[in-house]
Amino acid sequence: MIKLLGKPVADSILAKVLKRTQNFTQKWNRPPQLAVVIVGEDPASILYTRKKEQKAKELGMDHRTIALPATASPAFVYSVIQELNQDRDVDGILIQRPLPRSFFEGEVLFWISPEKDVDAFHPLNAGKLFLGFPIFLPCTPSGVMTLLEYYQISPRGKIACVIGRSSIVGKPMVALLTQADATVIHCNSKTPQLSKLTQQADILIVAAGKMEFINKDYVQKGATVIDVGIHRDSKGKIVGDVLFEDVATKASAITPVPGGIGVMTIALLMQNTITAAELRKKI
Ligand SMILES: NC(=O)c1ccc[n+]([C@@H]2O[C@H](COP(=O)([O-])OP(=O)(O)OC[C@H]3O[C@@H](n4cnc5c(N)ncnc54)[C@H](OP(=O)(O)O)[C@@H]3O)[C@@H](O)[C@H]2O)c1
Repeated sequence: MIKLLGKPVADSILAKVLKRTQNFTQKWNRPPQLAVVIVGEDPASILYTRKKEQKAKELGMDHRTIALPATASPAFVYSVIQELNQDRDVDGILIQRPLPRSFFEGEVLFWISPEKDVDAFHPLNAGKLFLGFPIFLPCTPSGVMTLLEYYQISPRGKIACVIGRSSIVGKPMVALLTQADATVIHCNSKTPQLSKLTQQADILIVAAGKMEFINKDYVQKGATVIDVGIHRDSKGKIVGDVLFEDVATKASAITPVPGGIGVMTIALLMQNTITAAELRKKI
């Protein structure tokens, strides 16, 4: 069984991002800049935002965190985003999720200019992805594809199964796997006989947000299992959607949590930020 560690893959991406960032800074006399807007005080969101800031700074990028109170109105947050859209020195913008209940996701998706939309959530970027002409790839699914490529696990001609249909993971994951010539089974919470479907998968990607619910009974012998889930268990330990020790007895390759997909997501965000900066300057 191979443990599919994210760190070596992320390190190789970040080394390239660092070079591109240095070239950009030299050429344009300023570093690329990422702006993160966070509304409210969700502890996990604060932690993720800090990690993004730290990584951007390590790479020599400028980073701005705009922290707004949970009481900030959608109209005010929209005006903040508009200022960032117009700021010539800001290359990438993202809005940290989850947002307070007063925000309507169907509207928020349109706020960030597509050319600064480093999460690739804007409907224009999502549409381009589904039609096969992406500019930015959503960070987590793109992280999964990059990890598979690094470990030479090709989806071509394979049966892949994706559990979860969120806009940030499950749906774009299916688009990327389909474009990589996999045959994809796509499951959600209403899927009947889930294990009968997951057992057919050569590559099983789990993004259900349910702690350790995939055990070896869901897995075909020799399958590759990618665990996107992140949870903290009752002892404070970080675990995934997959019961690692159990599934590891049957899978041929599996991502650990932590240390698998999580580190990939941040690396892909940094890659999207330098890509946005270069595209805005038409390098
Ligand atoms: N590693 C990273 O960087 C990263 C990034 C993003 C998210 N995550 C983690 O990944 C997990 C998923 O995130 P998300 O944002 O995609 O979650 P989400 O929006 O809650 O979506 C979960 C999806 O799983 C489906 N689902 C739930 N229970 C199921 C079941 N028993 N059988 C089949 N499908 C089921 C849901 O189906 P319905 O649509 O029918 O409700 C839904 O589509 C979370 O643990 C999250 O923290 C990690």
